[in-house]
Amino acid sequence: YPTAPVDALGRPLRDLRISITDRCNFRCRYCMPEEIFGADFRFLSEEKLLSLPELVRLTQIFVSLGVEKIRITGGEPLLRKNIGDIISRIRSIEGVKDIAVTTNGSLLKQKAQQLREAGLERITVSLDSLNDERFGRMNGRGFPVRTVLEGIDAAASAGLSVKINMVVQKGVNDQDIIPMARYFRERGHTLRFVEFMDVGNSSGWNLQQVVPSKRIIEIIHADMPLEPVAPNYYGEVATRYRYQGTHTEIGLISSVTQAFCGSCTRARLSAEGHLYTCLFASDKTDLLSVMRAGASDDEVRQRIVQVWSERQDRYSETRLAQTSPRRMVEMSHIGG
Ligand code: GTP
Ligand code: 5AD
Ligand code: SF4
Ligand code: SF4
Repeated sequence: YPTAPVDALGRPLRDLRISITDRCNFRCRYCMPEEIFGADFRFLSEEKLLSLPELVRLTQIFVSLGVEKIRITGGEPLLRKNIGDIISRIRSIEGVKDIAVTTNGSLLKQKAQQLREAGLERITVSLDSLNDERFGRMNGRGFPVRTVLEGIDAAASAGLSVKINMVVQKGVNDQDIIPMARYFRERGHTLRFVEFMDVGNSSGWNLQQVVPSKRIIEIIHADMPLEPVAPNYYGEVATRYRYQGTHTEIGLISSVTQAFCGSCTRARLSAEGHLYTCLFASDKTDLLSVMRAGASDDEVRQRIVQVWSERQDRYSETRLAQTSPRRMVEMSHIGG
């Protein structure tokens, strides 16, 4: 095997984030606004998706190059029929140390037990508000909070460890910071505040709508005193705090105000088998076509090594210096 590659900035390849579908039953304004992802939007057809054997094969190849952490994303990954098989097959690949799923929680109540039985141990649920009106507006479908909360409870009862991701947008859901913190503190789940980012081409982003993580810490600390927690591993995305006198934590994902590209070890694979080396990438490598043309494992491996070795992405560190917008991959295509 070629040795585990490092990129042009010295960063190893450790994480693989796999999107298993580009479809979603939500239309979050900041990710898949209805005007663009409407009734006539063409999603990928079944035969264009990586099949389960192709997905397993590719994951094995990535693991042979140093990947240890896998995240399954979408779109909404629980919409994919064989999610249980996907989890159990990937989990049994030797060298995979961690596997997690990111979901909007809408189908979690029905699927939690099946996921746990497939061997999943932890899950991340996106939830931006506990208020139905605001949540319904943010998810673009009027979807109620209760169903997501029931999904979270079902996941916890099934034995999954649960984290919650809240994207904070000034003037949209910043009044929900404290209610969300209280609610998940009581239940002992880690809540992570995600700075609103300019992903894709239609998030409607502007810097004025970002609530800096520093501000969020001040807001919570004034109400429920916090203390810092040391990082779990090199390149951890979230900065962690715990409520004083408890083991319950919060996390802050500050990709706008404190970019973490310097330790970014993440590759992303879209549902149709395209490799992206950054969340904000405009270029990709079509690994599915390479495989379907009959390439050997070694040939696929060489291609990945070549792409990773040339990688120079550090978008979040340079975004504020960008003078003109450029076309980027959609978040719903590579799952955040
Ligand atoms: P853990 O394995 O639980 O530590 O997960 P994580 O911290 O990697 O978090 P998760 O996968 O839940 O990602 C949370 C959010 O952070 C994503 O939805 C993105 O919004 C953001 N994020 C994750 N990875 C990156 C990245 O490489 N770059 C940027 N800019 N944002 C990222
Ligand atoms: N900014 C920050 N986070 C985003 N996500 C989706 N779009 C954005 C954005 N514009 C997050 C969701 C979810 C994950 C899939 O990505 O909240 O946690
Ligand atoms: Fe769907 Fe998640 Fe995007 Fe919302 S953020 S539209 S739930 S993929
Ligand atoms: Fe990694 Fe790109 Fe995110 Fe920077 S912006 S942390 S390089 S994915």
